[in-house]
Amino acid sequence: MLFSQAKVTAVGSYVPGRRLTNDDLSKSVETNDEWIQRRTGMKERRIAEDVQFTSDLAIKAVESMIETFSLEIQTIDMIIVATSTSDFVFPSVASQIQNYFGISQCGSMDLSAACAGFTYALNVANGLVSTNQCKKALVVGAETMSKVVDYQDRTTCVLFGDGAGVALVEREEINPSFVHASYGTRGDAGRYLYVSNIANNIEGEGIKKEKKIVQNGREVFKLAVSSLSNTIPPFLKEADYGVGDVDWFVPHSANMRIIHAICDRINMNEDKVLFSGEYYGNTSSASIPLSLTEAYQLGKLQRGDLILLSGFGGGFVYSHCLLRWSI
Ligand code: UT7
Repeated sequence: MLFSQAKVTAVGSYVPGRRLTNDDLSKSVETNDEWIQRRTGMKERRIAEDVQFTSDLAIKAVESMIETFSLEIQTIDMIIVATSTSDFVFPSVASQIQNYFGISQCGSMDLSAACAGFTYALNVANGLVSTNQCKKALVVGAETMSKVVDYQDRTTCVLFGDGAGVALVEREEINPSFVHASYGTRGDAGRYLYVSNIANNIEGEGIKKEKKIVQNGREVFKLAVSSLSNTIPPFLKEADYGVGDVDWFVPHSANMRIIHAICDRINMNEDKVLFSGEYYGNTSSASIPLSLTEAYQLGKLQRGDLILLSGFGGGFVYSHCLLRWSI
């Protein structure tokens, strides 16, 4: 059983104002609203301004959480940011957040686990807080995917959007909210989804100078469905629960068809799914906290609800986090 002395006490999110609809995309590549909605469940996504970066979105998400929950941010002693689109390789987005808010005694790090990043980061925060290495951890998922999307590639440009979400994890000895956690990796499938960087091309086909996202959609689709549907039931069983006990299922919002296939295989009621992709697209590490914050704001989440977060993405990596909702 998972050791936890931590709970989630606040959430927040931010998306940029600029909307990119399916009809907008059909003006630049050969696609259409009907295809995109039927294959992905997406209608539009938000796009950051040219001079707006991941740290800007992350800071706005933290500000919205501070305002909603009237928080005292100076007592935060750890910042973890899950992102694949940091402004710089270093300094980290986490240290940019520390600097912006002028938090004095605080650790900071970015975590790289692609679209599974927020789930990984939340589980890491539970580990750090529960073992007394820190008392209050800010966990952020923030992305400007638009900076790495090739808008000439219709197989990827219709999917991704920008956004940021955040959760606060604090020490709680009596009623912790973390119930169970697990992780998985299929490094052999890394070539199916990557963003070129210093090593430019994973297939060894020569040098590409620009950073951009490359994806074999069909392979990623199959991996996502098989890895999640094969691991969720045993994961829940380890925690003495079954699929029917889950009140809310929050998978990474990659594609509604992937989620539909997973629900079908594990017998999960789709009414329990929280999906942020319809209006925000695939926001990578931001998608789960965006779904959670929206559901919280709509009053859907009740204290005590059992919530299953399942992140998956480039690596290929995945992670589950089972929470008892505590806000
Ligand atoms: O968060 C990271 C994880 N990433 C993902 O989870 C993405 C996983 N994959 C997917 O979501 C889907 O594979 C896509 C949405 C990317 C593609 O959907 P699909 O149903 O797997 O389509 P496909 O790749 O099998 O392509 C079917 C057809 C092809 O045409 P032909 O070869 O059958 O003539 C594509 O060229 O659809 C064509 N196509 C498009 N048509 C209109 C591909 N993209 C588009 C498009 N508009 N945007």
